[in-house]
Amino acid sequence: MNIEKIRADFPLLKKTGVIYFDNAATSLKPQCVLDKMTEYYTEYGANIHRGAHKLSVRASQEYERAHRIAAKFFGTKESEIIMAFNTTHALNLVSYGIDWKTGNNIVSSCIEHHSNLLPWMYAAKKNNLEHKIVESDLEGNFDLEKWQETIDNKTQLVSITAASNVLGCMPPVKEIGKIAHDAGALFMVDCAAAAGHIPLNFKKIGADFAAVAGHKAFGPTGTGILYASEDLVKKEVIMPAYLGGGTVSDASCHDYTLAHSPDRFEAGTPNIAGVIGLGVALEYISKIGVDNIRKHDIEMMSHTFKRFGEILSLEYYGPRIPEKKVGLVTFNIKGMDAHDVALLLDETANVATRSGHHCAYPLMKFLGVDGNVRASYHAYNTTEEVDVMCDALEKIARAV
Ligand code: ALA
Repeated sequence: MNIEKIRADFPLLKKTGVIYFDNAATSLKPQCVLDKMTEYYTEYGANIHRGAHKLSVRASQEYERAHRIAAKFFGTKESEIIMAFNTTHALNLVSYGIDWKTGNNIVSSCIEHHSNLLPWMYAAKKNNLEHKIVESDLEGNFDLEKWQETIDNKTQLVSITAASNVLGCMPPVKEIGKIAHDAGALFMVDCAAAAGHIPLNFKKIGADFAAVAGHKAFGPTGTGILYASEDLVKKEVIMPAYLGGGTVSDASCHDYTLAHSPDRFEAGTPNIAGVIGLGVALEYISKIGVDNIRKHDIEMMSHTFKRFGEILSLEYYGPRIPEKKVGLVTFNIKGMDAHDVALLLDETANVATRSGHHCAYPLMKFLGVDGNVRASYHAYNTTEEVDVMCDALEKIARAV
């Protein structure tokens, strides 16, 4: 993997000189994605599936091509890729699209971010279901027996992250999915922090549904993906949460016939430029190779741990073994507020990190902290940048 070449593809890096370690919030965008969106707006910027004229036909073709690229990327059929606006939207499409049965339960875990908790809490409250939580240890390691004990024949859905946005750990999704399916439950995987960092094949994982943040995988903001298995769509286990333009194949004033997937789930004019850009982003990742990004993440984590070991007042969270993590680490300097540390990193070393609760209040409570600082990496980051951050952290720690 040629990091210098990759860095040259991201104009923001050159323009700002920033050390961008906030990739788990949203990644930077390569020039090819920006160019593709400009191409849409300047050459064929019409609506999709709504016009016979050539601009609309071209827009529709490019939009559908993005679905094909995503399907190939995640090992699914094209019809199983529903374009959403972000991971939260994709998870809510499931929570609003399922016919919940009173008395059943929904199972998720203590390491989830809000997007993979609140929609289930809401569905459970509204429909009188129980929302059950499986706890991990403090590093995010799960005992599969706990999943076995918690999931029962009343479990309607199990939803788990493929990688924690705080701990970086990667739960055994395939094994948890098998336990869910053996109990007759649906199985959803939240891939917000995982997509583009670890190889993901939704069929091989055994997911019924999966949520992806396109904007964390070099795609434009306002892009995400919901994978919904064709079989479950056909059986109407999941139905559209919204209806309107583009979702039906016929309608009278009193009735309608739903279109096939994905159209039935993509109501109204979508983020056309964004989706087309996302297709190019996924192609770009494929060219680099997800396996190579995975190796790079491990190298970045190894170096981070080496340097962190030299800073005495630093506390850090999640597994300590690089191979057990995606490329992110959260930490605190003892006696300092996380936001103050992040501000000092920004001001003194031009390092952009995220600080606070990371949209994961329950996990912060579980860890017994108010918040922490997160450095999250991607393919353009270097170990030299980690050194700049750690040198700055050493200085900040000495001043406490
Ligand atoms: N899940 C997003 C993050 O980790 C909000 O920053």
